[in-house]
Amino acid sequence: MRAASLIYSAIYRGLFCRLPDPMAVSLGQALLRSLPLDWLPLFRLKDPRLSVTLGGVRLPNPLILSSMYYDPTILRRAMGLGFGAVTTKSTTLTPRPGHPEPNLVRVETARGPGLINCNGFKNPGLEVYRRALPTLPHRVPLIVSVGGESIEEYVTLVEALAPFGDLVEVNISSPNTALVYQWSQKPEELGSLFKAVRAATDKPLIAKLSPDFSEANDRAIIPLALDHGIRIINHGNTRRVTEPRLSQGTGGLSGPELFPQTLDTVRRLRWRFGDQLEILATGGIDAPDKVLTLLRAGATACGYFTGLVTRGPILARLILEQLLQEITRRGVTRLDDLRRSEGNF
Ligand SMILES: Cc1cc2nc3c(=O)[nH]c(=O)nc-3n(C[C@H](O)[C@H](O)[C@H](O)COP(=O)(O)O)c2cc1C
Repeated sequence: MRAASLIYSAIYRGLFCRLPDPMAVSLGQALLRSLPLDWLPLFRLKDPRLSVTLGGVRLPNPLILSSMYYDPTILRRAMGLGFGAVTTKSTTLTPRPGHPEPNLVRVETARGPGLINCNGFKNPGLEVYRRALPTLPHRVPLIVSVGGESIEEYVTLVEALAPFGDLVEVNISSPNTALVYQWSQKPEELGSLFKAVRAATDKPLIAKLSPDFSEANDRAIIPLALDHGIRIINHGNTRRVTEPRLSQGTGGLSGPELFPQTLDTVRRLRWRFGDQLEILATGGIDAPDKVLTLLRAGATACGYFTGLVTRGPILARLILEQLLQEITRRGVTRLDDLRRSEGNF
């Protein structure tokens, strides 16, 4: 396992980091699409003690591939790469070409390698997803993510796509288009949005929040979600930063620089909201000990995307091994007991 990790690290630093950003992205996605990595047992670790429940849905483990990929072939492959659930790219009503290049750059931060993107919801739109999603095998649960410009659009998306997902994620937090990001600035209308999407499906709903609006999240947005029957909070999306290399001059930062805030938020939300919330902790996970720390702090499950790019597909297996070691060391029977033993519901 360590060898696979070292090999990936050498390839990432020696090849991907030397290529121009757009070429590295295309090559990475082409490899993920064409190599049948999902059939190699190397990347997975099955053990009933690792399973957790999110919104009443049983996940074989608490690791979730965060929203980024819209290609069904990549989503299908990701389902065999050790994750306990896989999230789709946020789908919009009509196809979106995304922002012009450069729309993704790599950054070396004090805490390690990250990304800044202004992807702008590049995705083929609802109709393409509606045809593609039924073909996905659900080797692990699928989370369908949606992003809209109006309440009506969210409702149309949720009604159309929820039947193909095990859970539905309502993205109100991507910083790269005004349409989604602005929801956090108008809590009055957000209440109506939550009410409408809740009425649109019986599937468990996740509200994906922005780390840029911590105060509003705690004070207004999370209580609104709870009032309307949305109990799962994903914290969270990328952090908005200035980046002159990008076509939009700003973008969303992802990777380890986000981790301290993710951890603080999980601790705070658990303390403030107790067991009313299920918390999906996302932002900066790129090592096994970070997942362990988040679960102990009260996270129900943990999501990542940038760690898959910078640490490779072996990361999930490395994390799961460490979780099992901890379960054994602590003499508990399930992962949930680990969280409860810390007093974190
Ligand atoms: C290129 C790129 C595209 C993304 N697209 C979406 C998206 O469509 N919807 C969404 O909710 N989050 C999107 N995200 C955010 C990730 O799902 C995740 O929340 C964020 O990157 C923080 O986690 P990480 O540090 O593990 O990457 C995107 C991130 C990146 C880097």
